[in-house]
Amino acid sequence: PLPAPYRTELPVPPVLQPVRTDATTDYYEVTASVGTAQIIPGHPTQVWGYQGIFPGPTIESRSGRRTVVTHRNELAHPTSVHLHGGHTPHDSDGYPLDLITPKNGATGGMAGMSGMSGMSGADYQPQRDYTYPMNQRAATLWYHDHTMGFTGPQVYRGLAGFHLVRDDEEAAAGLPAGPRELPLMIADRAFEADGSFAYPALDPDEGKVGVTADYMNGVLGDVILVNGAPWPVARVDRARYRLRLLNASNARRYRLALDPQPPGGGGLLQVGSDGGLLESPVAHDSIDLASAERFDVVVDFSRYPAGSSVRLVNQLGSGSTAEVLRFDIGTAAVTDDSRVPAKLSTIEKLDPAKAVHTRTFTFQKSQTNWTINGEEYRPGHSLASPELGQVEIWRFVTDVHHPVHLHLDPFQVIGRDGKTKPGPFDAGWKDTVDVLPAEGVEVAVRFTDYAGRFLLHCHNLEHEDMAMMAEFTTK
Ligand code: C2O
Ligand code: CU
Repeated sequence: PLPAPYRTELPVPPVLQPVRTDATTDYYEVTASVGTAQIIPGHPTQVWGYQGIFPGPTIESRSGRRTVVTHRNELAHPTSVHLHGGHTPHDSDGYPLDLITPKNGATGGMAGMSGMSGMSGADYQPQRDYTYPMNQRAATLWYHDHTMGFTGPQVYRGLAGFHLVRDDEEAAAGLPAGPRELPLMIADRAFEADGSFAYPALDPDEGKVGVTADYMNGVLGDVILVNGAPWPVARVDRARYRLRLLNASNARRYRLALDPQPPGGGGLLQVGSDGGLLESPVAHDSIDLASAERFDVVVDFSRYPAGSSVRLVNQLGSGSTAEVLRFDIGTAAVTDDSRVPAKLSTIEKLDPAKAVHTRTFTFQKSQTNWTINGEEYRPGHSLASPELGQVEIWRFVTDVHHPVHLHLDPFQVIGRDGKTKPGPFDAGWKDTVDVLPAEGVEVAVRFTDYAGRFLLHCHNLEHEDMAMMAEFTTK
């Protein structure tokens, strides 16, 4: 039985405190462990969470200040942690074979996977330090599991959390802040009758990679969670709020809209994308959000009557998946000194005319798997060797929908479907772009700072686990 919508209050993940700080660096410790969540009334759900909770605690970094996170693993299966949106050197990027292996844990089916030779139950590394230089602007990042072949089931069980980067430019913009800044992690899940997560893995003990044939297109759930709660309610003032929308779903895409729309429309005022602030705000009636994309929006609840309710709905859903979140607007008169400046930031335009290479990556199904340029992911095998500091044009071509993600550095969408024009949701710096069926998306990208092996993959997590991933090596 599904829980009833709009019965629980919106939880906000706790902000993690550093265990120590010095002149240059903040140090954090995070333990992945089994925990319990109350999602289905009367039936507790076992989660795999960072600090045992789902979402994990939010980490906040200052741009320019190094962050070191020591991740421990107390789960029964190896993990690897990727900071999505982080400009991160290879050795801290959560490479799928750089595993954190619990002492008593199974190695699952990994021993038999290509590139995994030498791994046995006796090899363990129960913790790993991830060093994030944070030479990047303010943005909504998130950290999540990235284990070879098992990212889908492990994120589904709860291994995901926010990591926010803040800087002076963002602070000076005067956007809504404090309790009026809400990170919203949207993720769909399905449940068994006993309250456990229903993930259709080929082998529930994670001995085998992937999902059953019916789920080639990805795993969808009928319950929409926001910050881990089913269709929650947020009590808000009649004031502006900054909503950091993150689609942390394995495969579902959303078209989010306010219902009702405020008078005059344009209720979702986008101020930022995956890679931080836009140059200037963009008003949307609805926003399309594919897996792993982030949209930073400001909603002004003073445009609605005091005491009214507004829902955030999913226009691509039906029945239970058409509902997401409800805002109950207070009646009290409040002060609001936030603003949304007409000019938010300056973004350097990558000039496609300066591109030294154009590369095409084709995302396609094979008989049993998903491929990039006809190849299934092979660790250590690189599809491209871009030079640091040079602009390149990368073309992503598909059969069906694929949200394409690049590690290391963000990109700018320069064209879609043969037209030299980005789509309505492509503004700013992006690290994930939704490539629509039979479409081509062109992006301009320039990798900087770190030489090494990085990943390019579909962020439909089932596709990723079914080999739709590739490496590029920066030099
Ligand atoms: Cu959010 Cu390589 O992943
Ligand atoms: Cu895909």
